[in-house]
Amino acid sequence: MAMMTATVRVRYGPPEVLHPARLARPEAGPGEVLVRVRHTSVNYGDLFARDVPAVRPGDFNMPAPFFYAARIGFGWLRPSNPLLGSEYAGEVVEVGEGVTTLTVGDRVFGYRSHRMGAYAEFLVEREDGLIVRLPPGVSPDAAAVLAYGGSTAIGLLDPLGPLSGAMVMIVGASGSIGMAALQILVAGGARVTAVAGPRNQEMLWDLGAEEVLDYTRVRAMEPGATRAGRFDLVLDVRGRAGFEAASAILTPEGRYVPVSFKLPAVVQALRTRRGRGQRVVIRLAPEKRESLEQVARRMMAGTLRAAIGQSFDLDGAAEAHRAVEAGATSGHVLLKN
Ligand SMILES: NC(=O)c1ccc[n+]([C@@H]2O[C@H](COP(=O)([O-])OP(=O)(O)OC[C@H]3O[C@@H](n4cnc5c(N)ncnc54)[C@H](OP(=O)(O)O)[C@@H]3O)[C@@H](O)[C@H]2O)c1
Repeated sequence: MAMMTATVRVRYGPPEVLHPARLARPEAGPGEVLVRVRHTSVNYGDLFARDVPAVRPGDFNMPAPFFYAARIGFGWLRPSNPLLGSEYAGEVVEVGEGVTTLTVGDRVFGYRSHRMGAYAEFLVEREDGLIVRLPPGVSPDAAAVLAYGGSTAIGLLDPLGPLSGAMVMIVGASGSIGMAALQILVAGGARVTAVAGPRNQEMLWDLGAEEVLDYTRVRAMEPGATRAGRFDLVLDVRGRAGFEAASAILTPEGRYVPVSFKLPAVVQALRTRRGRGQRVVIRLAPEKRESLEQVARRMMAGTLRAAIGQSFDLDGAAEAHRAVEAGATSGHVLLKN
């Protein structure tokens, strides 16, 4: 049996549960391609999935049913899939029967979502799945860290319509979704106030923010805390600010969009969905190939850039996870394989 290298965890736990291993190499079935993974990342999903039971349902950023669905999906007591890694870049090394759109040697990148699997030398993906060709001139390491945040930000922002000239606040602008949303909004003509922790301030200026606030020093929801005045949109990645607080800095028809939300926000979204006035808009970003294609186009146009702060070898994934959890990283964290 052909084998491959991987970094796995066979039980949930701290970063130390991650260790190198050899696994059976998957094969491309009909309609599938085999990808040699060269780059992947450490993102929110990897940290969560590495140690699902460590998160209490009440601390989870989404309604409790989502937590239980995730816990069942990832495996209740032990991980049902030993591999993490939701985004990647690499090249196609084998195509299954009937594959017409990708060929051996194509450079690709993709998003696996909760299926994970990119912490390995090879992975199999359906040719019509969330996998697209790497555009010419785009570096694979950038694609590997933008697939998740980029496609999620696009899925959340596209339905909001054009935001040219809009005043926008992003709370949690230095994470995967926030960094992508910031750049997409700026490219679309919005003026963005970015809120993040102290170590990420400089990076957010570089990515195009008009104002950058440190949440350890400033209460961003307090009127007068920002130079910007009122906001047409507040995008709150962790959903912790809340509509009541956000309404003080929203324009009369401003929208509060918690990317992570609990039940009260769902009720507020239903209550405010009609008529004029301030609204809460909640949305689950659809996992669509078009979003990933848009990530590719934006990377090629230079309007979506990676901000890779640290790179590790995949063998060093435990160290990378430790560094992220210790708050010792800034920007995207790349794993090379
Ligand atoms: N709605 C959807 O479709 C959807 C899809 C995917 C994910 N999600 C949700 O999105 C979240 C993950 O987003 P992500 O991957 O971008 O996360 P991430 O990379 O972990 O980023 C988290 C962000 O929150 C900031 N933050 C931490 N503490 C904060 C505080 N006290 N005040 C303000 N900001 C604070 C961080 O800033 P510093 O690092 O600078 O401290 C960082 O910018 C999860 O809750 C997930 O459930 C929603």
